[in-house]
Amino acid sequence: MSSSDPAATDGDLADHVAENRRHWDEMAHEWVAMGERAWARAEPSWGIWSVPEAELKLLPADMTGLEAIELGCGTAYVSAWMARRGARVTAIDNSDAQLATARLLADEHGIELTLWHGNAEEVPAPDESFDFAISEYGAAIWCDPEAWLREAHRLLRPGGRLVFLGNHPVVLACAPESGAAVGDRLVRPYFGMHTLDWRDAQVDPGGVNFCLPISGWMALFRQIGFGVDDLREPRAPEEASGVNFFVDAEWARRWPSELVWKVHKI
Ligand SMILES: C[S@@+](CC[C@H](N)C(=O)[O-])C[C@H]1O[C@@H](n2cnc3c(N)ncnc32)[C@H](O)[C@@H]1O
Repeated sequence: MSSSDPAATDGDLADHVAENRRHWDEMAHEWVAMGERAWARAEPSWGIWSVPEAELKLLPADMTGLEAIELGCGTAYVSAWMARRGARVTAIDNSDAQLATARLLADEHGIELTLWHGNAEEVPAPDESFDFAISEYGAAIWCDPEAWLREAHRLLRPGGRLVFLGNHPVVLACAPESGAAVGDRLVRPYFGMHTLDWRDAQVDPGGVNFCLPISGWMALFRQIGFGVDDLREPRAPEEASGVNFFVDAEWARRWPSELVWKVHKI
């Protein structure tokens, strides 16, 4: 029920792309159960706090006839949600091990997806191929912001929409280099935030992430040619408790841990 691009090879990957491929191929087995649960969900919910689609409205209600792409799809449950809304969906991921789970789940659920193994900073598709692009913790945090945003802009038709969800720069300003959970202290600069290399972390080492201050995202949107439709800061719900990844629920009720941008190609 899914197809893959056999042409994608490791080639000359940039350092962060190679490290993130290694990291995700190694971790993919830990994401299977979560992928199974998300594929089974009738209604989408987003991010580490599972905030309902009804609240965030990341997807058009009816995607019939739309060409959609997910950039850094992991197990591709977001792609499944879009396909169920009527979109023709292509999804790209840097980790073949993650895509193996995506292929199994697509077959199990009888959903047709085009799955490509590759880097979301260089997608093998012609200009203006898509109406809608999305990333939930995929390219949104694992790709160089300028590279993947320029690529998303190239891929979208004029007026096409890009929606992405990832870490809020405030939570990363409070994230210790050790990889331990965030506290109520600023431990790294907010201004100038760009690359977060976790290879030397003591807790869950590995991977290279990216995040910009809000003004940095805004500057890139202006330079590249995106107009901003909305900025959302999903908050941990009352019922959430304990530490989720590196963020305590109580923390995430007081400060922003996640950020959603909704933009369109001008
Ligand atoms: C956390 S998953 C995101 C998918 C899903 N929404 C989720 O939250 O599980 C992160 C995914 O980004 C992928 N990724 C990292 N760097 C990438 C790149 N340069 N191009 C495409 N995918 C990338 C990883 O392989 C991984 O499958």
